[in-house]
Amino acid sequence: MSLVEFLPVPLPSTTNTQRLSGFGKEVRGVDIANITLEEFSIIEKVLYEHDFLLFRGVTMSPEQLYRIVKLFHPGTESHGHGKEKFEGKVEDDEKSPFFGIRKIPAVPQVLLIGNGTVREHEGISEAVLRHPSHKTFHRTRISDEDEAAGYTRFYHWHMDAALYDFNPPKVTGLYAIKVPQGPSQTVRYDDGSGDELPVSLGTTAFARGATMFDVLPKELKSVAVRSKVKYAPHPFHWMQPARAMSNALTLETEGLETPYDKLPSWTEDKVQTLPMLWKNPITGGLHLEIAGTAAAEIIIDALPDDKVRESAMYPDGAHLKDLREVRELIVQLMRPGIAPSLIYPHAWKERDFILFHNRGVNHSVVGSFKEDQVRVYHQCNLAPPEPPIGPDVEDIKKWA
Ligand SMILES: [Fe+2]
Repeated sequence: MSLVEFLPVPLPSTTNTQRLSGFGKEVRGVDIANITLEEFSIIEKVLYEHDFLLFRGVTMSPEQLYRIVKLFHPGTESHGHGKEKFEGKVEDDEKSPFFGIRKIPAVPQVLLIGNGTVREHEGISEAVLRHPSHKTFHRTRISDEDEAAGYTRFYHWHMDAALYDFNPPKVTGLYAIKVPQGPSQTVRYDDGSGDELPVSLGTTAFARGATMFDVLPKELKSVAVRSKVKYAPHPFHWMQPARAMSNALTLETEGLETPYDKLPSWTEDKVQTLPMLWKNPITGGLHLEIAGTAAAEIIIDALPDDKVRESAMYPDGAHLKDLREVRELIVQLMRPGIAPSLIYPHAWKERDFILFHNRGVNHSVVGSFKEDQVRVYHQCNLAPPEPPIGPDVEDIKKWA
């Protein structure tokens, strides 16, 4: 085996290097496209320890991308969103985050995503791709004037997951084949904070779930460790008519969601109720992982008897069903962790391959491209048989 090297991922000057220390590694000395099982066992551990791995200058076929992602997900062949999605242009509504996404015919678990028109690509004669834009998803939008001046937004904070029927993928692989160059942009949060974050064109923004938990005050840590989120049935269908907040954490509450009885048929046993904190399989750390736009209810356990009730939130537990209340709590829990200083915005180069710990980070598409800025990426994640693991007895003792 060659000597595998792990280097720190360079963090931009905007980051709080103390808070994000240990996030991400650039890996050298391994041919990731042809990784051996011995190398994989090292890579797997380091990925869960650092949540993000970057490989530069990679040449990788869709088959090879599928193989490496599959190594993290033995026991499944299903894409994170299942087999039926992305058949041709399933998602015809441009408001859908999946608009225009295509499957690679020979390896349907690998998706073609990006921007612009792509021809004769891996068995696809023509695909018209569209980089998701906040303009089709947020309640408010940045003016054309400000957009021309380089302002943009996070599109949608999420982890890759169907959140109905299929368990959230452990790891996502993202391979940059064509990366348009252009002037940098500035993310505006537009949530009253005045926060801004300079980013490279078309960055993917990452927030580390462990840090998001870490920065919370004691009272909110206690809520997070005691809480589960119940997601809507077919959440992406449910949320489609609704509009997101400007910081992209969750939806505005305007009663626009598709009523449950108007959704495609669904059954209660496929609805997902997941802990707010997901346990890292290697470090044992707790990662705040909430899909804010898909959340319908929050179930909070009561404080254990031996805990101080004074100043505790929801000491007797609660079952929040009011969407406004659910979303207010989600913003309280998640907003601190997406502060500009806690974000890693990856500055993509062509032939970058990244693996991210999908159960340990939250991420968002960022920015806007013009139609002639062609961006070509392959993405793969798989839905494993095992759901994420929540806090254990010791965690509750420590944090509740
Ligand atoms: Fe994603």
